[in-house]
Amino acid sequence: MAGVVADPQQTKFVLDESRIPRSWYNIAADLPVAPPPVLHPGTHEPIGPGDLAPLFPMELIKQEVSQQRWIEIPDEVRDVYRLWRPSPLYRARRLEKALGTPAHIYYKYEGVSPAGSHKPNTAVAQAYYNKKEKVTRLSTETGAGQWGSALSLACQMFGLQCKVYMVKVSYQQKPYRRIMMETWGAQVVASPSPDTQSGKKVLEQDPNSPGSLGIAISEAVEDAATRDDTKYSLGSVLNHVLMHQTVIGQEAKKQLEKADAAADIVIGCAGGGSNFAGLSFPFAADKLTGKNKKVRIIAVEPAACPSLTRGKYVYDFGDTVGLTPLVKMHTLGHTFIPAPLHAGGLRYHGMAPLVCKLYDEGVIEAQAVPQIATFEAALQFARTEGVIPAPESAHAIRVAIDEAQRAKRDGKRRTILFNLSGHGHFDLGAYEAYLGGKLQDYEYPSAKVDEALKSVPKV
Ligand SMILES: Cc1ncc(COP(=O)(O)O)c(C=O)c1O
Repeated sequence: MAGVVADPQQTKFVLDESRIPRSWYNIAADLPVAPPPVLHPGTHEPIGPGDLAPLFPMELIKQEVSQQRWIEIPDEVRDVYRLWRPSPLYRARRLEKALGTPAHIYYKYEGVSPAGSHKPNTAVAQAYYNKKEKVTRLSTETGAGQWGSALSLACQMFGLQCKVYMVKVSYQQKPYRRIMMETWGAQVVASPSPDTQSGKKVLEQDPNSPGSLGIAISEAVEDAATRDDTKYSLGSVLNHVLMHQTVIGQEAKKQLEKADAAADIVIGCAGGGSNFAGLSFPFAADKLTGKNKKVRIIAVEPAACPSLTRGKYVYDFGDTVGLTPLVKMHTLGHTFIPAPLHAGGLRYHGMAPLVCKLYDEGVIEAQAVPQIATFEAALQFARTEGVIPAPESAHAIRVAIDEAQRAKRDGKRRTILFNLSGHGHFDLGAYEAYLGGKLQDYEYPSAKVDEALKSVPKV
């Protein structure tokens, strides 16, 4: 019977394939005030579909600006989703016990996808729409390598070529991610690369540049803009990308019902904002529509790259060189180069405009956590629940544990839900550094934030 848990020790809440969501949820339809428009980098006027056409297929451009609440997921995309969706929801019984907390902790595990993270949820959709519009090649950037692997996989599924600009520090730290992408047929180069004008420009200034997501985005955008057969694909930040990820939160809601539970706190790590949005937007919908105003929603970022908590809510470029349109977002300045912390996927200077809007309106909260405390949480999780989390996801675990400890102090039985956005099987170098006592905390200095913010264009 729905809502009644037959087994009080049940740990895993699964749904069958027929319950893969049939539509993506578009939060734009429920926002009381629309986010500020995206502006042309030259004219500072709002951009239209024509401005984005060299980079994206028309169907994705339509989704980017859509005000429709539900957008149907094509059968071809749902068919690929069947390989790993619906992903399981776990009750973290062993972690709860270790913490001695009255809180109930649930996590949605996206590491079951072939690429090991939530990223294929949008990669598959993007490859599909490009294929449908006769595009034959996609270019993209990758930080930790998770997004690059997801897109390589998706391109392989739909017979597209794929070129990945991989942030140099990750390229060096994570050879196995590169091999994975190549196994799925992609071409991978370290960014900054000599293959583009943007890459050459950075290399001239600093031949040893460790790279950044912003630089890699410049390269991938230039690649797509200068070739007829190629479009660009972005793994986070944009409205349509966040929307594709909402399959996570929709499933989690059904699974919590199965567990006869309702979330009091929903937590996700935030790099560009996509896994956070994917889990939390279906819950934010309940807040916006008045169905459940009490749920707390927390985005967690690294103290070394604190765009929501310490960045400014202004118009800035999405990339480093200044090729992309201007978006209003919490930014550390597009020239920001973060310390080489081990959560490569969280090293982005900006944040998804939709996440920023919700933060600005007070619908969601944000916290920044230091690297060492994050790895402490990752270890506690791995040693109780078994899964070795991606360092990015461990940021969400840190705050989930903090909240569970707070529930213990308050003597409250809160229900905490977090997104375990990926596994850390290709991040063992980071675990080795932590176990060997070699990790450092980086607090981003205020003076550097102020300095990088000077590069933000005056709009
Ligand atoms: C496992 C994992 N989680 C989270 C992120 C951060 O991205 P986003 O904020 O778009 O979810 C990444 C990025 O690469 C990732 O690989």
